Amino acid sequence: MNKTHVLMVLGLALVFEGGQCQDREVFVAQGSVAVLPCVDETSAISHPTAVYWSRMVGDVLKTVWRRDKSGLEFRPVRNPPRANCPIPNFGKADYSLHITETTIEDGGRYVCEVEGKTRMVKVISLRVVRASFSSAMVVEGTRTDLKCDVSPRTQFVTINWKHNGMFTSRTSLSSVSQRDAGNWTCQATYNGVVVEATTSLQVKGIATPQDDSSVVYAAVGSSVSLPCVFTDGLILYTVAWKRSPTTSDSSLPLPASFKESDGPSASATIQRVQDGDEGMYTCSGMMKGLNRGRIKVQRRMELVVTQVLRSSSSSGNGPVTLTCHLSNSSQITSYEWLRVTYGPNNTQTLTSVQKTKTYRIQEVTEKDAGEWMCRYYRNQGVLGNVTYQMHVMGAVKSENSSSGNKTAMVMGLGFLFLVVFLILFQMYRNYRRKKMIHLYPAMETIVHQAATERERRARSGAKMAEACVGDPKPVCV
Ligand SMILES: *[C@@H]1O[C@H](CO)[C@@H](O)[C@H](O)[C@H]1NC(C)=O
Ligand SMILES: *[C@@H]1O[C@H](CO)[C@@H](O)[C@H](O)[C@H]1NC(C)=O
Ligand SMILES: *[C@@H]1O[C@H](CO)[C@@H](O)[C@H](O)[C@H]1NC(C)=O
Ligand SMILES: *[C@@H]1O[C@H](CO)[C@@H](O)[C@H](O)[C@H]1NC(C)=O
Repeated sequence: MNKTHVLMVLGLALVFEGGQCQDREVFVAQGSVAVLPCVDETSAISHPTAVYWSRMVGDVLKTVWRRDKSGLEFRPVRNPPRANCPIPNFGKADYSLHITETTIEDGGRYVCEVEGKTRMVKVISLRVVRASFSSAMVVEGTRTDLKCDVSPRTQFVTINWKHNGMFTSRTSLSSVSQRDAGNWTCQATYNGVVVEATTSLQVKGIATPQDDSSVVYAAVGSSVSLPCVFTDGLILYTVAWKRSPTTSDSSLPLPASFKESDGPSASATIQRVQDGDEGMYTCSGMMKGLNRGRIKVQRRMELVVTQVLRSSSSSGNGPVTLTCHLSNSSQITSYEWLRVTYGPNNTQTLTSVQKTKTYRIQEVTEKDAGEWMCRYYRNQGVLGNVTYQMHVMGAVKSENSSSGNKTAMVMGLGFLFLVVFLILFQMYRNYRRKKMIHLYPAMETIVHQAATERERRARSGAKMAEACVGDPKPVCV
């Protein structure tokens, strides 16, 4: 390790000879430890009697740290004291001042005086670098500028900026987004010394989703959450959701099962996604800004509805094609079909069958009954899945039929049995009657005759009644 490196580790400080007045300079980042050197190279002062550290404020010298002849230490009243001159170092003829958590206000000229057999005086300049933003509170959509201050100022500083470790040419953020959040580092180079001061940017607004490019995938019939989480520390006036087609800004009604959640999160839920619910969902909030009234922030996300479409050429056991259908498949790079089986304890087993968008089954048999899954990918990453229940005609056992279906089946079968029973009962009765007639052939004639006689009499009676009604004279009394 060379000298530069050691000193960089020790609080990014480097000492070098200054101008004609033998000033030494120390260059550090705000927040680091600054070591102001005061070393007796000649060891002329073997036993110091007093050490004085003071700071030049205008024309006045103000004590920063002092050790008198009596051995008493003095420090300015400051809580906690950040400046210290470690006495154990005195044995090595080192009277350097250590300032912890240096602030930009610490920048300036310092004087070190050591008294002993001889007297030593050194003047040291401390230069501090600080990174900051032009606004105290940064709300997304607003403007902020990056600031890199060096105190005391000097024109011989070169400045470069890094965002989360990557060099950037931006020094002004005209419309701040959540992507701008993170660490901003000002890399300052002065007289060959490189110092990095970092500040972190928290962007007020909607923390999740980060931007307007998010896509939410949901299968028909499933429940889905549309995230919208605001950052802390902002007073929200109102939160609202709206829906529009993907390609325009016109308004569409929200789905029937759309529910906004209560509490600090503005996330919403569609409890039962239906075909047609796809589109652009926008969550917006009116927030209380800093000294400037209300600020509106909003986030758009796309809901893509997924489902399996079944097409079969004819009824029965012909070929069946299952298609993995997404309302917008522009992000999908590949598909995969899997067979889902369930073992004991409801353990799910997935078996990959084909890596295509559609899956064709030549002849559907009982073994194909049950669950199928289509997985969709974007560049090797799984984006989601959608399942399909295959019901096979004529399959005696349908594992996945719901209890409702079972009830209907039981009722249907019961009705069928009732009808069959009634038919059989009627047939039995007819059979019994025929048998009786066979036993007593004469009875049929008698029964018949009696019946015809009764009918005949009834008919003539009716005729007479008609006549009575038609005739004004009561002939038939
Ligand atoms: C920012 O810096 C802090 C402290 O060095 C670190 O913990 C954090 O991970 C950094 N954040 C990013 C986004 O790089
Ligand atoms: C599909 O999504 C992409 C972004 O993923 C979007 O640009 C495009 O407009 C969408 N298309 C339709 C028809 O919704
Ligand atoms: C099923 O669960 C029970 C208890 O929960 C456990 O003892 C048993 O080993 C499990 N069986 C299988 C096949 O995982
Ligand atoms: C299928 O998707 C759901 C969420 O939609 C997820 O919880 C589940 O783990 C996924 N299953 C598989 C096997 O990928």
